[in-house]
Amino acid sequence: MTPKVLILYYSRNGATQQLADAIATGVQQAQGDALLRTVSGGGEPASNRDLSIEVDDLAQCDGLIMGSPVRFGHMASSLQQFWEQTSATWLKGQLQGKPAAVFTSGSSMHSGQESTLLAMGVPLLHHGMMLCGIPYTEPAIQQTTTGGSPYGASHVEHGQGIKLSTHEYQAAVALGKRVTHAARALITEREQGNL
Ligand SMILES: Cc1cc2nc3c(=O)[nH]c(=O)nc-3n(C[C@H](O)[C@H](O)[C@H](O)COP(=O)(O)O)c2cc1C
Repeated sequence: MTPKVLILYYSRNGATQQLADAIATGVQQAQGDALLRTVSGGGEPASNRDLSIEVDDLAQCDGLIMGSPVRFGHMASSLQQFWEQTSATWLKGQLQGKPAAVFTSGSSMHSGQESTLLAMGVPLLHHGMMLCGIPYTEPAIQQTTTGGSPYGASHVEHGQGIKLSTHEYQAAVALGKRVTHAARALITEREQGNL
């Protein structure tokens, strides 16, 4: 069984995209299919390396990992706007019982990474998803002096640009793996309507 893990992100300058790529590596290491999808910037510039998400991608995935740059302590409006177009998916429960996780990138320390991660989890919980973090048994979470948190993967530029630190990379890979393993484990229970 090869779980399909949708990595949905918005990135303007490439930092969030780098986290998305590290998470995709983790998905592949856990023998999953990583599907990278983005949203348009809604007036802001946006990376268009990957295809834009279509609502049907939500129905097809077995797990979802969402990422955004920090925007004044919150997710980018283009992602929020996307979720506001998902009422039909919600009514049909098409994300229910699937594992989810979140990731973010910000420019400075203590400036909204955690609030952005937690806020991004809210629509996913409304959709009945099972939110996964990164456990403290992952060494990168204990050792990091940059990004990476129990709430999700993250990057802090801190004057160093978009390149991920080793711990940020390791935490992001671990998150991709964890969601993929969870997706595989949950498929049968989901199909039986138990979740
Ligand atoms: C309107 C706006 C608001 C922002 N707010 C924050 C913020 O609250 N905290 C922060 O650390 N960075 C903030 N940033 C910086 C970006 O989150 C940061 O540069 C991020 O790494 C960019 O990700 P990207 O390279 O994927 O576009 C903001 C940027 C913009 C344009």
